[in-house]
Amino acid sequence: MQRTLGVCYYPEHWPETQWAEDAARMAGLGLTFVRIGEFAWSRLEPRRGQFEFDWLKRAIDTLHTAGLKVVLGTPTATPPKWLVDEMPDMLPVGADGAVRKFGSRRHYDFSHDGYHEESKRITLALAKAFGAHPGVAAWQTDNEYDCHNTTLSYSLAARSGFQAWLQQKYQSPEALNRAWGNVFWSMEIADFSEIELPNLTVTEVNPAHVMDFRRYASDRVVRFNRAQADIIRAHSPGRDVIHNFMGRTMAFDHFAVGADLDVSSWDSYPLGFLEDRSDQGDAWKRQFVRAGDPDFQAFHHDLYRATSKGRWWVMEQQPGPVNWAPHNPAPRDGMVRLWSWEAFAHGAETVSYFRWRQAPFAQEQMHAGLLRPDSTEAEGFAEAARVAAELETLEGEIDPRPGKADVAIVFDYPSAWAWEIQPQGREFDYFRLVFDFYRSLRRLGLSVDIVPASAPELDGYHLALIPGLFAWTPELVAAIRGFDGQLLIGPRSGSKTQDFAIPDGLPPALPKDLLHLRVSRVESLRADTPVRVSGGATFQFWREFLEAGADVETVLSAEDGVPALVRQGSLHYLGGWPDQELMRDVLQRLAADAGLATKALPDGVRLRRHGSHVFAFNYGEVSFDLAELGWTGAPLLGELVLEPSGVAVMAVERAGY
Ligand code: GAL
Repeated sequence: MQRTLGVCYYPEHWPETQWAEDAARMAGLGLTFVRIGEFAWSRLEPRRGQFEFDWLKRAIDTLHTAGLKVVLGTPTATPPKWLVDEMPDMLPVGADGAVRKFGSRRHYDFSHDGYHEESKRITLALAKAFGAHPGVAAWQTDNEYDCHNTTLSYSLAARSGFQAWLQQKYQSPEALNRAWGNVFWSMEIADFSEIELPNLTVTEVNPAHVMDFRRYASDRVVRFNRAQADIIRAHSPGRDVIHNFMGRTMAFDHFAVGADLDVSSWDSYPLGFLEDRSDQGDAWKRQFVRAGDPDFQAFHHDLYRATSKGRWWVMEQQPGPVNWAPHNPAPRDGMVRLWSWEAFAHGAETVSYFRWRQAPFAQEQMHAGLLRPDSTEAEGFAEAARVAAELETLEGEIDPRPGKADVAIVFDYPSAWAWEIQPQGREFDYFRLVFDFYRSLRRLGLSVDIVPASAPELDGYHLALIPGLFAWTPELVAAIRGFDGQLLIGPRSGSKTQDFAIPDGLPPALPKDLLHLRVSRVESLRADTPVRVSGGATFQFWREFLEAGADVETVLSAEDGVPALVRQGSLHYLGGWPDQELMRDVLQRLAADAGLATKALPDGVRLRRHGSHVFAFNYGEVSFDLAELGWTGAPLLGELVLEPSGVAVMAVERAGY
């Protein structure tokens, strides 16, 4: 594997006379990949059946001649007006019942069979035309599933699709009534055609009903993506099929979509995400306003690496200010380079910048590119050039793959849906809970792999965490039984059945020989009424009342005497949502039991182990001397004193491990 850089390019936005020069400059910058085409349907098929592919062929030829490799996007995120007018019921419907109209993008409904066929038709036409082109190295399916909240649609197509899906799952209305508990509030149905969509009701809909709707909607995304992937594979052998995921997007199961991809990728906008997708308070946001959250990108790198068995890219890397967050500051000098290296440290094959040249027109005219609209170099250009030069110097020096991390976190999209449906306390958000644990592990200098709950391979990890998992599967229970490292479960794990009911015998509903424990009741807490556990450390937002069997040892108790952390052998259960201090204490304790050395890193400094090397990153605004962590000698890249925005790479044995 060779690490490479790329860029997103829209030849249809620029005069053809400019393409060759653009391509030459891209190659000169040291880029390898160019992603094109993903929004170009109106130029590829201006009227039904009138395919105009010549310009795209010339664009691909031009890039190919310059030595660049093309990632060709299917244009299905932007169906053209004529198509929408032909079948207006393909438009998605919001939870408020209003149609989401043509005029931007992603205006389609995953449940609409007619649009599903149209997406296959245009994909087939493109795959036949360009599948064997030597310049086409990979494909991107659609663009950012769920962007602008487009997984869920409350259309007639969704209703009939959902009804058919339920019929297949439950076979009889009686079975569905039983599974959902429809005797409650007289919700029983006599026929699948009576099932409504879970919106516009007077009050809360049955959670089991919503949960199945979420599963159904996620399956539709999988179906849509798979149809394109199959067509591309049939007509473009040897090319990778990729999709570009987004940050903090829980609406569909990315592991299920990833199963049909060769390479997962995601679109990384650190400053935009800090502004509009972070749970941290203003002080934190101020601290990292030009650097981005030190853990947010890393988490997604680790998450998406797990969705396609290790192969992954950053398809869109923020190059400068974006246009879509409440505020759009410029990155601090050096951060575009740092973000690129952080991705490589987590095993990215390619980091591709969005976009080549800033568009002077339309919705994203305020979004920076590597070039300004007048083609002069923007700030990101020099940083990309520096990364390209460094990659060349370091190629062959650093292991191609990151290897296995010491710690695993089990991650599960259905659990995110479950706690969104029934948070029971305003702050109980699955992503937030898991990410809190992730951040805490990273603060301790530990590297993490994300493991899907649907394929829980825990072998080889020293420490594993299963926070907030809504319902067990037999596979996960078997994985727990077979795991010989330290394991931390909870809070709230196993507190429902797959049918969204409280399990017999009460949570966490694990076999007694694994964990002899019962959660007799739970409470959610206002942010200003935490429960003290030890010293100043507390449970915030959520705590449980644990009743432990004789074989279970209480490790920590709350100040009212209720067990807070218990263990049975190496299996631990945590009965609440720990604040930062408690989380650090608990994880330090378990890491020590697992034989893992931890560090106390400052807020802005982070480490990532990568095979036989360790990367260090400084998101902070003050220098940090890596000698404090035991680093000795000259790093392979960077300096021992890590300046703000600094990156350093060191062999493991000289990095104090
Ligand atoms: C991404 C999207 C791109 C562009 C970019 C702007 O979400 O895939 O098409 O809109 O954001 O930051």
